[in-house]
Amino acid sequence: MTDKGYKDGIFPTSRLRIAVTGKGGVGKTIISALISRVLSRQGRKILLVDADPAMGLSYILGAETDRSVGSFRDRVISEPQLKRELGSVRIKDVLIREALVKLHDAELLIMGKEESSECYCGVNSVLKYGIGSIASDYDVMLIDCEAGLEQIHRRVLNTVDTLFVVTDMSVRGMKTAIQIKKIVESGSAIEDCQRFGLILNRMKGDAAPLLTMAEEVGLEVFGSIPEDDHVTSLDREGLPIDNLSEMSSSLGAVRRILSSLNLF
Ligand SMILES: Nc1ncnc2c1ncn2[C@@H]1O[C@H](COP(=O)(O)OP(=O)(O)O)[C@@H](O)[C@H]1O
Ligand SMILES: [Mg+2]
Repeated sequence: MTDKGYKDGIFPTSRLRIAVTGKGGVGKTIISALISRVLSRQGRKILLVDADPAMGLSYILGAETDRSVGSFRDRVISEPQLKRELGSVRIKDVLIREALVKLHDAELLIMGKEESSECYCGVNSVLKYGIGSIASDYDVMLIDCEAGLEQIHRRVLNTVDTLFVVTDMSVRGMKTAIQIKKIVESGSAIEDCQRFGLILNRMKGDAAPLLTMAEEVGLEVFGSIPEDDHVTSLDREGLPIDNLSEMSSSLGAVRRILSSLNLF
């Protein structure tokens, strides 16, 4: 498999906007990191967005940083000089300078803590605009979501075209996935979702009962990722995803899923 360049005909011009959702602890962050690794090694320019306040993605990418959009917003509110600068230079340039984290094969925006209950709507909408204009510089934007349904309800994922909903082998994980499907189908949360499907993660043993649940509600299954000892070892040693062997079963499964969707 070649690592560089697009395959002919796949996204020569258009951008890909992916979000990874699901219940807490099912593997959203590791799967986001694996997707990023696969697509970046293909030569795509990737913007990762860590939209979970728990900020697990930066950790698994080995990015030790205290930069985030949330802490930048706090500084804009408390530092008049920074606020003035936002009015005079492009918000995009300031965000890149102050909040973007450059990794060796992707770039990362950590959203950080939630907006405070006080309303900073002006600042927030400026930041939203800035993030949108940063994203247009990338081939792929990949959002690792907060657990559950909240961000989908709040239309945070409004502009994604590809939504992966992840479950582990638990019925609770699957029930969350089914709820997400219902919200997406209601049409109120995402405008132009072209691909929506389930990834069954940490697969071992008999998946038939879960697959039946998916089938009963018409939830398309994009594929499964096995329980992977390589991932468990990384976890145990606290190592970033770069250390995962090319031969690991989880990475192979993610390649297969992306390939079956013509995304890789
Ligand atoms: N396929 C897998 N094989 C082994 N461990 C996994 C697998 N997927 C996820 N894990 C582990 O499960 C835990 C939760 O994964 P994480 O990606 O943080 O979930 P989420 O982001 O959905 O909360 C982590 O310790 C992660 O390493
Ligand atoms: Mg996570």
